[in-house]
Amino acid sequence: MPMHGHFTLEGFGRYVPERILTNAHLEAMVETSDEWITTRTGIKERRIAAVGEAASDMALKASLQALDNASRKAIDLTHIYFATFTPDAICPPTACILEDKLGLKNLPCMDISAACSGFLYALDAACGAVALRPGSAVLVTASEVTTSRTNWADRATCVLFGDGAGAVVLSGREPKPGQAAIEDVILKSDGSLWPLLTVKSGGSAFPLKLGDTVGNDFFIYMNGPEVYKNAVRAMGSVCREILEKNNLSMADVDLFIPHQANLRIMEAVAKRLRIGPEKVMVTVDRYGNTSASAVAIALAEAVATGRIKPGDRVLLTVFGGGFTWGAVLLKFA
Ligand code: ACO
Repeated sequence: MPMHGHFTLEGFGRYVPERILTNAHLEAMVETSDEWITTRTGIKERRIAAVGEAASDMALKASLQALDNASRKAIDLTHIYFATFTPDAICPPTACILEDKLGLKNLPCMDISAACSGFLYALDAACGAVALRPGSAVLVTASEVTTSRTNWADRATCVLFGDGAGAVVLSGREPKPGQAAIEDVILKSDGSLWPLLTVKSGGSAFPLKLGDTVGNDFFIYMNGPEVYKNAVRAMGSVCREILEKNNLSMADVDLFIPHQANLRIMEAVAKRLRIGPEKVMVTVDRYGNTSASAVAIALAEAVATGRIKPGDRVLLTVFGGGFTWGAVLLKFA
């Protein structure tokens, strides 16, 4: 079904922590090499949150930038939707902690757990809020301290991830120049494949008892080759579906922002869609995989660096644990 009304991204923000962890640093920590990491993933360095820097702290910085970019004040916000798999705590929702840090009260605030796909899931939920009440101004943020669940002894995963946050303000107003209309959203999942990408320990199915020490299952586990195959297939097919549904082709897309998991996955998806590298937004080389934040950061960076021009159409696609995946079409005014 087509979307009715305006769903406008009014402003964009991003934040990555100062500390840089290069491949050379990792060579000193585990048995790996810059050559292996670069050829397998395209990642050269990633950002690491400071000690005590939580998902809500990074989200606050990205959110203030998004509000400023939208020429809005925090007091204008009506909802906060927060995508993360690394919340400040299991309870309360990190969205409530962010509400407090923004000096707000009485807003509906919730976290959205859809792993690396969380930002697009949160955008879709925010469109629902705007459809119900077009006067809404929803802060949609994604923030991840992936390194809080990174096993620094596991070379197969520790080289992949990084920390960071992205944010947008979504409203029912007509888009002004520099702002973007959400044209369509498609979200999918396949829960039968959940064991292929997990962080189990501390959940109710895998509780910790008083005095337990954390084991390997406290950290990110993934079956790399299976994630790779499914990510390429799923992102390729959902992009084709959203384009066909909107009577568009890849020629109508000016910028493609896939989940920044690793460059080989991004190149394989682009090849399937027959889209040239000049149209693909890449931040994974500098930030690694920041999970739900990855496409939010890449989108804000594309706006801030002038990569997007008036009238451009942007296609975002994501894939993550669940498995979950999806695509969003944006049209810039
Ligand atoms: N440095 C050196 N060697 C390594 C490293 C490392 N950091 N990690 C693994 N190896 C070794 C393995 O032990 C293995 O050695 P062996 O053959 O002696 O057993 C060898 O390299 C090859 O390992 P593979 O896993 O087969 O390597 P592959 O070419 O498949 O690449 C990778 C691994 C990059 C993880 C790949 O499977 C991949 O891209 N998967 C997608 C995973 C991903 O990006 N996940 C992100 C999180 S999920 C998401 O965001 C959607």
